[in-house]
This record gives sequence, structure tokens and C-alpha cells, in this order.
Amino acid sequence: MSKMRIAGRQRLSGAVKVQGAKNSALPILAAAVLTKGESVIYNCPALSDVEASLQILRWLGCRAERSGNTVLVSCDGIDRFDIPDALMRKTRSSIVFLGAVLAARGRAKLSFPGGCEIGLRPIDIHLRALKKLGAVIKERHGFLDCRAPHGLVGAEIALPFPSVGATEDIMLAACTASGTTTVINAAREPEISDLADYLNNCGAKIYGAGEGVIVIDGVESLGCCEHAVIPDRIVAATLISCAAITGSEITLQGVIHSHLGAVVSAFEDAGCVFSSHENELRVSAPQRLQAMKIVRTMPYPGFPTDAQAPLLAASTVADGTTVFIENIFENRYRHTAELVRMGAEIKTEGKFAVVEGVSRLYGASVEAGDLRGAAALIAAGLSAEGTTEVGGVRYLERGYEDFELVLTSLGADIKKL
Ligand code: EPZ
Repeated sequence: MSKMRIAGRQRLSGAVKVQGAKNSALPILAAAVLTKGESVIYNCPALSDVEASLQILRWLGCRAERSGNTVLVSCDGIDRFDIPDALMRKTRSSIVFLGAVLAARGRAKLSFPGGCEIGLRPIDIHLRALKKLGAVIKERHGFLDCRAPHGLVGAEIALPFPSVGATEDIMLAACTASGTTTVINAAREPEISDLADYLNNCGAKIYGAGEGVIVIDGVESLGCCEHAVIPDRIVAATLISCAAITGSEITLQGVIHSHLGAVVSAFEDAGCVFSSHENELRVSAPQRLQAMKIVRTMPYPGFPTDAQAPLLAASTVADGTTVFIENIFENRYRHTAELVRMGAEIKTEGKFAVVEGVSRLYGASVEAGDLRGAAALIAAGLSAEGTTEVGGVRYLERGYEDFELVLTSLGADIKKL
């Protein structure tokens, strides 16, 4: 199992381009099963989660080739509707193939994605929505067998929670359904808008993506298109955390400022100064951060749950106390026990984490338990006195492309063992 070794007390400097968004590339690759012809997806990050989606596409009979950050995908040859357990288990987000395969093939058979490191990850909202579109779903022995013998029919669907995955699943199932689908209380994340842009460029008729109500007019079929994935706002937030925890000034290239509103605001409260120019964002951190007092994770455009762990790492060396309220996932503080091993003062109780800032962290051997927790521990290692070894690098590679190269280019002393 590979580890990362980080030398502490690092100052970062320079500029780095932010990778394409994992959580945009994944649903867009699933959407390809609905298209005819060859789509070209630019700025597609090289991640294990993305590789898993490419494997699923190939299993289904599609052609999916990567060269650098460009992926060519053509699903004219799709001849299956089942996704084997082994492939489903590689990444939870493969549930988003359900709506796309069901719409494209009239049937979809796949195993329950199952929980993951950060929570149970139920899919009840997905299944209830697909049934409203006419799907007949059998659940047995951990498998889902979904059919739409007479095709899918548009419906009005009100979501009990603005679930990102469920909103994407509905968009994928509804864009070639007969009639109109209205999604009420839809997720508003930028990745939803990016998926809608890809589908609309392929001929879909999706209106209101990014708002709370999305209307989808079903069309006969979809063509294909060229599409550039939006930048990854969570990777950007993670790099800002790395700069903040080390009192550094760095420049992020290729960001979309409007996607980072809540993140920038939180770091400004901590004393960071931001300046933006076109698609660049420069962050300059103080020697010692001020505590942010309260950080609540919320659906977009609120503070993103995926940035909680990296921001919490930075708060461990801030001056004062920060209270985190994790409102989205039920088990997303696994990184705190490891940060305490590095000298942080953190108490967690359910959705709450109370962080008392300390003067400094100390290098230690720590173990990541999930993707964003791994990034948080690396950020902490950059700041700690001495050397830190972070185990569980496989989690990091699910969402961060060449993270050690990115940090090395900013002056960090980090090596993958
Ligand atoms: C997406 O997960 C992201 N993953 C997550 O990023 C992100 O944290 C999350 O959205 C919230 O922004 C991808 O896009 C691949 P949800 P998703 O459905 O779709 C509950 C990362 O680190 N829920 O909005 O699974 C669920 O349990 C990952 O990149 C149900 O109860 O998130 C959770 O508590 C982690 N029933 C809440 O809603 C359902 O049917 C939010 O989940 C679906 C969800």
C-alpha cells in the first residue's frame, strides 16, 4: 500500500492549473451511453474513479479511449445493460449509470453501490424518482433489476433532499423519455449544469440546470459533441487549504470564481486575501490563520461538504476555536483522529466537530480513511514540524490527479513511497 511522505514546515509558492472536475466527468461519461456518434471530452482528469467509468463503458460495448486529458467515447456499439458487481464496487458514483443505461437499453441490471467510507449512501431518492418515470425496479440479493418495457415517461418529481446523484440520474433517464419531466428541489451544483451543457450540446432539451427547478423536454435521441469538463472546485479548495495552512501565496489557474464563493468567504474569514484575474485566483495566507468560528456544510451554493476535511485541517493551526457542522454525510470526520495524532485539539460529536487551534502540528504516521480525508492529512503534513507519512494514498488517487506532482511544483517536499 503506497504512502506519501511529506517534509513539514513547507512554504508554497508559484502557480498551478486546476484539474478537470471528477464529479462532472463521471456523470458526463455515463451520459455518453445515450448518445450516437463519437463525443470528445476534454479536461477529463486521470483518476481511478474516472478509469472505473471507462471500464464500465467498455464492458457495455462502448469504445472509450483516453489520450492525456482527452477521452473519446462512442456508444454506437453498446450491447449490454448489466454492470458486474466488481465494476460497480470500484466507485459508488457508478449508480449514475442506472438512469442512463435504463433509458438507452430499456433495462439496467447492477448491484447496489453499497456504502462507502463517509456514510451509508442510500439510493432511495434515485429509485423513487426512476419509478415515477415508469421504471419497474426489482431489488434482490443486493442487485437491482430495472426495466422500462414501454419506455420512460416524463413526470413531476419533487426531491426530499437536493441529491446531486439523484438529480443527475433523473436528467439522464428523462432526456429521451416521452413528455416533460420537472425536477423540484433539484441539486444546484456546478457539475449538474456541466452535465446539462453536455446533454444539451448532444441535442437534449434541459432547462434550468443550476436552479432549484429543472425542466427536461424528452427528445427522440441524442447525437454527440465535444465538451470541456469544468475545473474541479474541490481540488481548488484543497489547494487553497494547503496555502492557508502553510502561510503561503499561490495562484490557481483555470478556476471559475463563481463556483468557489462559499470557500473563498470561509478563508477570507480566516485572514486569507484573494485576488482574481480572468480565470486565475491568487490566495495569500497570513502567518497565522484566524479561526473561522462556525463552518456549516450545505448543498450548493453553501459550503461544500467535500471541502470540509481540508478546511478542518487548516483550522487546527488557526488562532481560536472553529465549530464544524457536517450536515450532508453522517461519517465524515475520520480524518480528525489522525489529525489529533499530529497534535491537533479536536472533539467530535455526531455532526459536530470542535477544533481548538494549536500553535503547530507534529509530523506522524497517519492513515487516510477516505478521499478528502487523505487530502486533509497531506495538507496537515505540509505544515507540521518534522516528517509525516500518510497511508491510504489509493483514496487520494480517486479524486486528485498527480497530487504529489502538483504540490512539488508549488515547492513542497512530498514523495510517494
Ligand atoms: C455527490 O455525491 C458527490 N459525488 C460527492 O462527492 C459530494 O460530496 C455529494 O454529491 C454532495 O455534494 C459525485 O458527484 C460522484 P448526494 P452523491 O446524493 O450524489 C443522501 C467526493 O468526495 N441521499 O447529494 O452521493 C446521502 O446519503 C464525493 O468527491 C439519500 O438519502 O451525494 C447524503 O447524506 C463524496 N438518498 C445526502 O443525501 C439518496 O437516494 C447527499 O447525497 C441519495 C442521497
